[in-house]
Amino acid sequence: MPTLSNVRSNRPLIAPSLLSADFARLASEVERVGDDADWLHVDVMDNHFVPNLTMGPPIVKAIADVSRVPLDCHLMIEDPKRWALGYAELGAYNVSFHAEACDDPVGLARDLRAAGTKAGLAIDRDTPIEPYLGMLGEFDTVLIMTIKAGFGGQAFIPELLDKVRLLRNARDSGHVELRIEVDGGIAVDTIAAAAEAGADAFVAGTAVYGADDPAEAIRRLRALAEAATPLRPHEATE
Ligand code: DX5
Ligand code: ZN
Repeated sequence: MPTLSNVRSNRPLIAPSLLSADFARLASEVERVGDDADWLHVDVMDNHFVPNLTMGPPIVKAIADVSRVPLDCHLMIEDPKRWALGYAELGAYNVSFHAEACDDPVGLARDLRAAGTKAGLAIDRDTPIEPYLGMLGEFDTVLIMTIKAGFGGQAFIPELLDKVRLLRNARDSGHVELRIEVDGGIAVDTIAAAAEAGADAFVAGTAVYGADDPAEAIRRLRALAEAATPLRPHEATE
């Protein structure tokens, strides 16, 4: 039985991405990871913010209805102010919208929290994190893309972990409760570097759904992340 002193507050979370699942069998693909995933990551793409097109509220609602783990909705869409609350209303646990698509991220984060969901800020490959460091208290998660948003199966870009390091330092020095999530190219050969940099939530599409045993892949990724996760300042002194 874990005690408070040996439970790290930033225990790594693994969020398999349904983007790499078989879309013709969504319910059973959700079921395949249901006992092992911490969150289920759902990529909503609108063919405008990114060139790809995936799913909208009716399909996300259907996924929410069969998922046993919380839904982590990643909105790669234009005009999130118009659409994001709909995902909160259909039961998403966390709704992340892209900073590049929103001129009032704090306002939308407050609306999402008022609607009863966690608020997430997503930062694409070419967007610096510095302008957002002063507003971290408004968010529950910040999702750092470790690829260019839009497609699964791309190669991880290690240089983007500099943003994770900046974010971790700002979170810890500001005593903000925040999950730092990474998305793109997370696999057995990259997850430790992301965890060392400070990430504590990991999206994995290809590495989970491309594996023969997705549940085993999740457990392996989590173990690698746990082994590489540094203690947070208050934990190191306890
Ligand atoms: C891509 C999506 C990712 C995607 C990651 O823009 O945001 O969530 O599923 O896929 P992998 O893990 O294959 O890089
Ligand atoms: Zn995603």
